[in-house]
Amino acid sequence: MSEPKITILDDAQAVYVHAAEEIAHFAGEDICTHAQFTIALSGGSTPAAIYELLGTRFKLSVDWKEVQFFWGDERCVPPDNSESNYGMARRTLLTHLQLKPEQVHRMRGELPPEEAARSYEEELKAAFSIGDDEVPRLDLVMLGLGDNRHTLSLFPGHKRAIEETARLVVCDQVEADPPKRITFTPPVANNAARAMFVATGKGKAEAVRDILAGPRDPLKFPAQVIQPTDGELIWLLDKAAASLLPNR
Ligand code: 6PG
Repeated sequence: MSEPKITILDDAQAVYVHAAEEIAHFAGEDICTHAQFTIALSGGSTPAAIYELLGTRFKLSVDWKEVQFFWGDERCVPPDNSESNYGMARRTLLTHLQLKPEQVHRMRGELPPEEAARSYEEELKAAFSIGDDEVPRLDLVMLGLGDNRHTLSLFPGHKRAIEETARLVVCDQVEADPPKRITFTPPVANNAARAMFVATGKGKAEAVRDILAGPRDPLKFPAQVIQPTDGELIWLLDKAAASLLPNR
């Protein structure tokens, strides 16, 4: 397990531009070396600006026809619901790209949660041509950080999801709105070639400090569970989100 590579930039906009640059760089590298780039998008509000940059300023920087889009988690709502992580990515990025439908592997939030989770596990196995006891290796898993220290939809105290080792995707009922979620389990995120957190703003500072410099307690601080076994752990922060890190 590698040490996190932490990049601290002046402000949120600088973080978003750097994140888009990194994603374009990773995509170019991987398309060159293995003819495709598989990315799991994160949800919430932080990545929207990154997706917008990818769909505009960086649109010509990526060979999008070789990119396969996945999601690390989803709310159990229909895709046209304003809370849908897929819907946010569609509005900010996918709509700007001329993708084939088979390039977009959305979690079907409109299904009953357990059915949606099982269905996505089958989607991952088919997309990565893996068997029942294998874990897909994504080129990049994007991650956000909740101010309660959650990531994906792995929430504090949710032992079953945080400590899951057999399943690839589970559903859970969490302390956020909407409460019903589908999420990658830690094995999927930790098998990625790159796991990249993006966090900005003072509101994230305490969570960033706890994840990166606090006592190890993944049940209390779920984002600590993200430790790629053979991949890079990347943190992109602005000065405000990094402001409580010791000896910065
Ligand atoms: C979700 C996300 C979640 C998110 C964090 C941070 O579905 O909400 O996947 O893990 O990344 O809650 O959200 P913000 O970027 O809105 O602060």
